[in-house]
Amino acid sequence: MTAAQRCVLAYSGGLDTSVAIPWMRENLDTEVIALSIDLGEARDLRSVQERALRTGATAAYVVDARRLFVENFAFPSLMAGALYEGVYPLATALGRPLIAKLLVDLAREESAGAVAHGCTGKGNDQVRFDVAVAALAPELKVLAPVRDWDMGRPDELRYAAERGIEVPATLASPYSVDANLWGRSIEAGILEDPWEEPPRDVFQWTADPGEAPPDGALVEIAFEQGRPVSLDGEPLAAEVLVERLNALGGAHGIGRIDHVENRLVGIKSREVYEAPAATILFAAHQALESLTLARDVMRFKRTVAEEWARLVYDGLWFSALRHDLWAFVRSTQEFVSGEVRMRLQRGSLRVVGRKSQQSLYRHELATYDRAGDRFSHESARGFIELFGLPLRTQTAVQHALGDASRRLLPERLDRLSADGPG
Ligand code: ARG
Repeated sequence: MTAAQRCVLAYSGGLDTSVAIPWMRENLDTEVIALSIDLGEARDLRSVQERALRTGATAAYVVDARRLFVENFAFPSLMAGALYEGVYPLATALGRPLIAKLLVDLAREESAGAVAHGCTGKGNDQVRFDVAVAALAPELKVLAPVRDWDMGRPDELRYAAERGIEVPATLASPYSVDANLWGRSIEAGILEDPWEEPPRDVFQWTADPGEAPPDGALVEIAFEQGRPVSLDGEPLAAEVLVERLNALGGAHGIGRIDHVENRLVGIKSREVYEAPAATILFAAHQALESLTLARDVMRFKRTVAEEWARLVYDGLWFSALRHDLWAFVRSTQEFVSGEVRMRLQRGSLRVVGRKSQQSLYRHELATYDRAGDRFSHESARGFIELFGLPLRTQTAVQHALGDASRRLLPERLDRLSADGPG
């Protein structure tokens, strides 16, 4: 068999990729090697692996990529402060480039000529896989059987039944779900009506905020150079820290996001997310940045965050621009070390304390207490003199031209000052 006829499939164990194995053998004359990657979605990947083999894969691999994912994709995105459209922590979008990288690595080891994924033709994920593989291994073909075959869910079920392929029990769910440590996304079913409140069965990671413990909980998160390193004083590996925060935040109803999102392929879609750890960490990280970063760095970094989010969402993780933005982001994080204390309570999240050895907050400058105040009140007068100079110049000139008050005050305010209490 030649390399072109061997293919590495990203195998989740769901209906689509289970049907894809025999379909590719029959229709593309391709031998299929299954690769199942654990990004923390809490599936039993050993049984997924066995299913791949029973379904006709010639080999089936399982890789635990949880730490790789959190350290190299989720945390850098946290450090960048990147939320797509201001709300989505990009869980799925961050997982795809890593899966693509692992597919490419295995394809090269196995001398396969192609990789394959189970994405449909309507989503962002097909773009992310295709583009990431093109960047990493232009010589490899990317097969997308689910995009190419003309089967709906009933056809797939029939196809599977005819070949004796077992269908996973999760198929009873009306939703389309993707999950990794950085979050869980839920689409389809009743959620396709953006007016419908998500029913209870949508949520699996988060308690209903109204039913969470009334007293809530406090948690202290320590960061080193922008990376979360410990919880309540206990140093933890990246993936364990995120797992713990997902459990803790979930128990307090933190991290539900309900969003109508602009997909890259031009569709608006209603997306529900559960992302307790990401939600907590974004708030904590931002609080620490506000203590340790200069005002201009914070302002400029918001622009970078938005660019980063767009690039990641659009599947351009391996682009030159994303790489270059990382150089900036990493540099900004040099002094983002310290601790943040948060209160989690019935779906709400509040930063209630922060401290850092590199804090730019100076009590002797900030205090309203005269004793110990080192701020130069005298300089403030001089500063304002120059800061306000252009405005005073403008008013002087425009007064001379005779029209100042109408231009400078909205009309209603004008009238107020004329007939106001007097
Ligand atoms: N809308 C999100 C994104 O594009 C989540 C996609 C979930 N993917 C899936 N195959 N269910 O990143």
